[in-house]
Amino acid sequence: MNQLIVCSFLLAIASSYAAVVPAASYVVSVQGNDSSDPICGGALIGEKTVLTTAQCLAFYDPEQLVVSVNNGTQIIKLAGYTFDAAFDFVTMENNIGLLKLSEPANADIIDLAQQQPATGASGVSYSWGANGTLNSVDVELISTSDCGSGDYGWSEDEVLNTMVCGLVKNSSSCVGRFGSPVVSDNKLVGLTAWGGCGTNGQAAVFTDVPSLLSWINSSL
Ligand SMILES: *[C@@H]1O[C@H](CO)[C@@H](O)[C@H](O)[C@H]1NC(C)=O
Ligand SMILES: *[C@@H]1O[C@H](CO)[C@@H](O)[C@H](O)[C@H]1NC(C)=O
Ligand SMILES: *[C@@H]1O[C@H](CO)[C@@H](O)[C@H](O)[C@H]1NC(C)=O
Ligand SMILES: *[C@@H]1O[C@H](CO)[C@@H](O)[C@H](O)[C@H]1NC(C)=O
Repeated sequence: MNQLIVCSFLLAIASSYAAVVPAASYVVSVQGNDSSDPICGGALIGEKTVLTTAQCLAFYDPEQLVVSVNNGTQIIKLAGYTFDAAFDFVTMENNIGLLKLSEPANADIIDLAQQQPATGASGVSYSWGANGTLNSVDVELISTSDCGSGDYGWSEDEVLNTMVCGLVKNSSSCVGRFGSPVVSDNKLVGLTAWGGCGTNGQAAVFTDVPSLLSWINSSL
């Protein structure tokens, strides 16, 4: 567990070197109630609902987390939280969690993808940086089976059913911090989960949102 927390800080630092884009206001940051530095990212999927990864709830005290919307324009307390009971912090399967906000976010929401995109589809990984910039990194999405083929740095024992991958083409960039949204065709396809920056031919691994729709729908 300690190792994962250290990784998340490294990823958070690396992600601040990505490009700056106009706000996609459904991209939120999850932070401690005593700091404005993001811990994790998340995506607004309803005006009072944020999707993030389970690791952001399992490895921090959720009682002390708040959600920052539109770069701190709104800091919203949680009314509740949950993560998939089948989350496995060794294999990282079922790495999904949901935050219920105590008041509506004044921002856009993003629709959930119903199907995993094919290998080669383009996507964008978004994340708020520690200095109040919204970073975006272009990724080429890689399907679950292709990602575990060995061609992208991982085996089929590592890339499991609830995961999908992405390659970052620009080796100076890095996918966002954990829990941050990955969007393709204006739909939420993934959440940054593990596997590093996604550069130099080694894919970053995301939570595969379409494979977890039944958990999401039953947790709303
Ligand atoms: C903030 O982030 C941007 C891009 O991510 C970077 O160019 C800039 O140097 C950073 N600013 C500070 C003060 O760290
Ligand atoms: C790659 O990312 C760096 C850092 O954000 C940026 O300065 C550069 O313009 C990007 N290159 C391309 C080709 O997008
Ligand atoms: C953060 O939340 C915890 C748990 O609800 C609370 O005890 C603490 O006082 C809060 N800290 C701040 C700075 O609001
Ligand atoms: C976010 O807020 C910080 C602090 O007020 C500010 O410096 C930064 O420019 C803002 N970023 C955006 C994208 O508006």
